[in-house]
This record gives sequence, structure tokens and C-alpha cells, in this order.
Amino acid sequence: MTSTAALTAFECSKSVRVSIIGAGNVGSTLGQRLVEKNLADVVLLDIAPGRPKGLALDLMEARGVERHDRIIIGTDNYADTQHSDLIVVTAGIARKPGMSRDDLLKTNANIVVKVVQQAIAYSPDAVVLVVTNPLDVMTYLAWQASGLPPQRVLGMAGVLDAARFATFIALELKVSIMDVTAMVLGGHGDLMVPLPRYSTVSGIPITELMDEATIQRLVKRTRNGGAEIVSLMQAGSAYFAPASSACLMVESIVYDRDRIVPAAAYLQGQYDLNDIFIGVPTCLGRTGVSQILELELLSHESEALQASAATVRQSIEAAQVLLD
Ligand code: NAI
Ligand code: 2OP
Repeated sequence: MTSTAALTAFECSKSVRVSIIGAGNVGSTLGQRLVEKNLADVVLLDIAPGRPKGLALDLMEARGVERHDRIIIGTDNYADTQHSDLIVVTAGIARKPGMSRDDLLKTNANIVVKVVQQAIAYSPDAVVLVVTNPLDVMTYLAWQASGLPPQRVLGMAGVLDAARFATFIALELKVSIMDVTAMVLGGHGDLMVPLPRYSTVSGIPITELMDEATIQRLVKRTRNGGAEIVSLMQAGSAYFAPASSACLMVESIVYDRDRIVPAAAYLQGQYDLNDIFIGVPTCLGRTGVSQILELELLSHESEALQASAATVRQSIEAAQVLLD
């Protein structure tokens, strides 16, 4: 099928439509997951010449083997994203040698603001899911740029961080990952807050299954989860688990599944925090974040969340100064 034929089929389709802005490693892998799980038609949009069109044609051709009916198109034109139910933002750059954190913050902040403004103009009823780093800051800027109610904007990180924590727990205890559920709050950075008391194996808190030293070792590895993969890969960062995590969130939103997962959500007094996006347990449905769940925290857990929030807030303030 030519890309023109795909575009025509796409225009006629009444399926759930997800536009992914940024067809890099995370964006293209997410697109693949969404179509191959038969969850949505997908638009891949990128500024890299030819890349989104090439990837989309490749994924369309995979239908001959994978046998699904979903349409995927690639484009550099926001008009092709119109009527999206959900916009996923994965556009941005990774930090390069010689680049300061502020340089990265400035570049990605300007990218995220511009892509959200352009995408939302064509899909004013969409939910916006942000993936670009630094995650909590970019989610805040995306919300401001979108003009949407805060419940319709959220960020992906907690699902990934919890998936990593769950993986390390399952490997340590030699139990099936199927029986492990983990919870991680806070910003997607060194100060994230894995919660052992709320992380369980078949309902049993891991605090009853491991000693404190072991738990702290797994907590540390979780906090370092992204960096561990970067140092192994040497170029680029994780994308399979991030794409799986975003896919779970997309599914819960577009099919109104009400999954309870940690996500960067806008707080208005919950956890004693105001006017910030940060990772907390949320219920995800068709309108975005339908509920924020407030867990009872011990004082050290609460202090850790406040410390993480303080660094997110600092970066939000820095990013606003750096915006063009
Ligand atoms: P990548 O470099 O493979 O892809 C980024 C894509 O964005 C590129 O294809 C680039 O051409 C595109 N892009 C740049 N500016 C654009 C613009 N103005 N409009 C449209 N497209 C644009 O990077 P990767 O690995 O896909 O990661 C994407 C982002 O997600 C990064 O910021 C990364 O740090 C972040 N990330 C966040 C995670 C999380 O847990 N929140 C997990 C993994 C990655
Ligand atoms: C990760 O945690 C880079 O944020 C990305 O893998």
C-alpha cells in the first residue's frame, strides 16, 4: 500500500486515533505496540526528513505478517494529526557531550511548547501524554502551552519506574513478575520515591519478604534505572520499557479502563503540594486523570516526596526563564 493509500484509509477510519509527536526510538516503538496490539490508528509526526513516512510504511507492511487492521501514517504536517483522541509527546533531544542541563532544558522546553501548541490546535479535545525529559517539567510546560484543564495533561514515568522496581523485586525473590506490583512516587529523577510498603508480591508487602539492606539496594537500582541502561548502551537511552509503559497508559485512557498507575499529574493540595506536576497514583480514563489517590505516607516517605518536588519546582522555574 502506498503512503497516499494509507492516508486515504486513515481519513476514512473511525478508530481511536493516537498521534505521536517525535518518531524516535520511544515514539516509533510505541506506535508499533499500539497498532500491533490493535489499540488505535497512529500518526507518527517528526521533523527528521522522511523518517516518519518511512517508519509508517515499514509498519504498514508488517501488517502482512502481524495481521491487524490498524492504519499508521507518517508525516511532518500537523494537519494529518487532526481529530486525535490522544497526543503523545516524545519529541526532544538527548543530552550530548558538552551540553549543560540548562541547555537540554531550554532545547526540550522550546520543542515541547511548540509541538503541543501545534498539535492541540488540530485536536482540541485530545488528552496529552508527555514522555520527553525532564519529564515532570515538560509536563508542566505542555499543560501551560495546551490551555487544557490539568486533568487532560499527564506525564509518563511512574509506570516505567515501577516496572523497573517490580522487575528487580521479581529477580531478587525468584518469583514471577506476574505477581509483583510496585509503586513509585515523585519526580522522574535521582530523588524519585520507590515505596517498598506499597510494593507487593501477591498482596504481601516486600517489607515482609526482604531485609532492609536488600530493599535499599533495589531502591537505589530503580532510581538509577535510566542511567544504568544509558551506560550500557553508550548511545541513546531506554525505549522498550518506556514504550510499553506509555502504551499501558494510552490503553487505559482511550478505552476508559480506569487503571490505577503512578503518573505525573497536576496537584492542587494533594500530598501538601500545589501547582506542580509530579508522580502520584492516578486513575486513568477517557478524560485523562479522573482521580488522584492520596496514600498514607510515613514521615520519611513524605519528606522524600517533598524533596523530589522541590527539585522539580526549581527546574520548572528555570525552564520558564529559558523559554524563547
Ligand atoms: P530519540 O532521539 O530517538 O527521538 C526523539 C525524536 O524527536 C527524534 O526523532 C527527533 O527528530 C524528534 N524531534 C525533535 N524535535 C522535534 C520537533 N520539534 N518536532 C517533532 N519531532 C521532533 O529519543 P527517544 O529515545 O525516543 O526519547 C525521546 C524523549 O523521551 C527524550 O527526551 C527522552 O529523554 C525521553 N524519555 C523519557 C522517558 C520517561 O520515562 N519519561 C523514558 C525514555 C525516554
Ligand atoms: C529512562 O528512565 C531516559 O528517562 C529515561 O530510561
